[in-house]
Amino acid sequence: MKPETIERLRSLLAPARVLTSKEDLIPYGFDGTAVLQQLPACVVFPVDTQEVSAVVELANADDVPIVTRGSGTGLSGGSVPISDCIVLCLLRMNRILEVDTDNLTLLAETGTITKSIEDGALAEGLFYPPDPSSLKVSTIGGNVANNSGGLRGLKYGVTRDYVMGMEVVLPDGEIAWLGNKCVKDVAGYSLKDLFVGSEGTLGIITKVLLKLVPLPPARRTLLATYSTLEAGAETVSSIIAEKIIPCTLEFLDQTTLRCVEEFAKIGLPTEATSLLLMETDGHSAVVAEEAAKMEAIARRHGAIEVRVARDGLEAAELATARRSAFSALARVRPTTILEDVTVPRSRLAEMVRFVEDAAARHKVKVANFGHMGDGNLHPTFLTNEKDPEEMHRVELAMDEIFDFTIELGGTITGEHGVGLAKKKHLPAQFRDASYPLLKRIKGALDPKNLFNPGKIFDLQAASVSNEQLQNDA
Ligand code: LAC
Ligand code: ZN
Repeated sequence: MKPETIERLRSLLAPARVLTSKEDLIPYGFDGTAVLQQLPACVVFPVDTQEVSAVVELANADDVPIVTRGSGTGLSGGSVPISDCIVLCLLRMNRILEVDTDNLTLLAETGTITKSIEDGALAEGLFYPPDPSSLKVSTIGGNVANNSGGLRGLKYGVTRDYVMGMEVVLPDGEIAWLGNKCVKDVAGYSLKDLFVGSEGTLGIITKVLLKLVPLPPARRTLLATYSTLEAGAETVSSIIAEKIIPCTLEFLDQTTLRCVEEFAKIGLPTEATSLLLMETDGHSAVVAEEAAKMEAIARRHGAIEVRVARDGLEAAELATARRSAFSALARVRPTTILEDVTVPRSRLAEMVRFVEDAAARHKVKVANFGHMGDGNLHPTFLTNEKDPEEMHRVELAMDEIFDFTIELGGTITGEHGVGLAKKKHLPAQFRDASYPLLKRIKGALDPKNLFNPGKIFDLQAASVSNEQLQNDA
């Protein structure tokens, strides 16, 4: 990057909010995937939308790419810098600007930590349901940019379902407001939806208007354990088939269960082959009925034990332990590669078995857990990046898992995004005119390919015409 560009960034922002020394840049060179790393030319910390816009205008004039970042907890390499780029970190834009209790909305700057959004809603007796496991660290902007899921996705949906509007800085520095507080709005294309899940490739989301819902008055949490791998998956398929939609149906295999117990020490039954964490919420009568039905279904599928959490405290402890699964597994081997495949829920038992068999075929260690009620699994390879031969076998097992997922009518990512980690598999899922369409949208909004280039798909830099894009595809 030209020294003049850095100088101009320093005069646009306070000099202390432009980092350039190697030691300062290192923490911004990777995200939650850890294996993918690259130092940027600098990291900048704007404090408001005007500053974001000014940085973008400058980057556009000097043809410098921008990689936007929140806390860097992403699991697909989406916020890993590219060389010689500006990392634009939104952590200083972290204010909740309004909780509108008449319209049940919350407006926040996108560097706000997701847990603060949840707490801000709770303070008014309201509920913001999306709860990615990273919620105590991740930012709402990162959640929106990746359309994050969480443990309550089954009943409440994902981040997209709560985004009513947003302020976004476009690649030329223009500021646009998309959406509003209306429950219904069909004026024009739903542009806000285009930016949800766009992984920083189309615009920089600076504010977000979120939908809140009433806080459910009652909840009940159950834990079921099994002696086979498939029985938990079959229980989930039956619960769905019997038209019960609890808020949470989480699965842990034995490896995950044991690692989580070692990490959280809350007395999980480590002798079980698989475990289901189930939660229902809503009116107390409905909660009691659904809990009883789920218990009966779990027993019908051979559960060794079904335990009901004593109180809210124990329920919260179980959810926290479940949320620690990734961190707990990351302690086992030097390298952790976590996938995010999602299949139609009737195919879950097959998928769980396939993951286990693929790992055995290639003699690699895999743990499996995930949001089973959503059909969303996180097969997690426990490996060592310094051993290329083992890494090759991991790669082969992963390729088979992705192929099988697509064969079952599934998706290569249910909640973590494509980023760098999954872009090679995207064409297998977008097999028709939809793949070039993705690139045409990117080309139309960011013709110089300056916003998070090389994420989701490869694209040549600088003024790519739609005709070229179609030829590339
Ligand atoms: C979870 C993250 C890894 O489900 O998505 O814990
Ligand atoms: Zn997850």
